[in-house]
Amino acid sequence: METVKLVAEIKSKISKLKAEGKTIGFVPTMGALHKGHLSLVDTSVKNNDITVVSIFVNPTQFNNPEDLLTYPRTIEEDLEKLSDCKPDLIFIPEVNEIYPEPDTRIFDFGVLDRVMEGKKRPGHFNGVAQVVSKLFDIVSPENAYFGQKDFQQVAVIKQMTKDLKLNVNIVPCPIIREKDGLAMSSRNVLLSEDQRKNACKISETLFKARNLVAELSVSQLKEWVVEEINKNNYLSVEYFEIVNDTTLEVINDWNESNNKIGCITVQVGKTRLIDNVTF
Ligand code: PAJ
Repeated sequence: METVKLVAEIKSKISKLKAEGKTIGFVPTMGALHKGHLSLVDTSVKNNDITVVSIFVNPTQFNNPEDLLTYPRTIEEDLEKLSDCKPDLIFIPEVNEIYPEPDTRIFDFGVLDRVMEGKKRPGHFNGVAQVVSKLFDIVSPENAYFGQKDFQQVAVIKQMTKDLKLNVNIVPCPIIREKDGLAMSSRNVLLSEDQRKNACKISETLFKARNLVAELSVSQLKEWVVEEINKNNYLSVEYFEIVNDTTLEVINDWNESNNKIGCITVQVGKTRLIDNVTF
């Protein structure tokens, strides 16, 4: 496992590997790694000759400056955790390596960026698309691995890849959870002990909700989920939407789509947590 900081250096290493006919798998991350990230790395290592992991806290996707400031940074621990998975190259660029000048590109993802996280975090997915398109250009992977915890992010990146006609296969990977069901997230370390204990109520409620589909209408079920979670004093639901899992259009009737997903964002003190389940 080799650590590289410069764009020119990683590009030259990758072009040599490609000339030898090696396939490249890529896992972009913002660090503060946990088993969710590592599951993506394991999948990439299994399915590609070479795996590249990037660790870069991308400033352009943070619409809230305090969130950027408090985002956990644990590079030493990250490298130690990664060494167990045996990826080949770890790319850890500084901000001016990725953005030697400001990225002024504006992407249009239509509905994909107008609902849920897109609506609540204006500019967030534009920043994600900026950094991921730059990283794809630097790493030129055959396969890139993304977690379904960030379901909307996967949809946006698939669309971006199509719009920019990039030759990258986007591989969605399952959500990895803590023992009590809480979706693993770098932000979980920001929770107090009490907040952490109560946060499992989010996934618990989503799983219970799946068993209520036969009894409740879409709007009744949405109301039930929000009320159930808000009963807990530590949790405050920002939104819960049930959407078509491809178009991300909001569903008002169970028959509108076969493939439905319920996406939630909950404020736990100052920390925003997201999760989702299929319906
Ligand atoms: P980050 O939040 O670090 O996540 C990196 C990758 O790990 C994403 O694809 C995310 O969906 C996945 N991931 C996080 N928690 C997971 C879990 N519990 N189970 C499975 N996968 C999980 O997402 C980003 O970084 C950034 O937006 C990035 C794509 C790197 C662009 O800056």
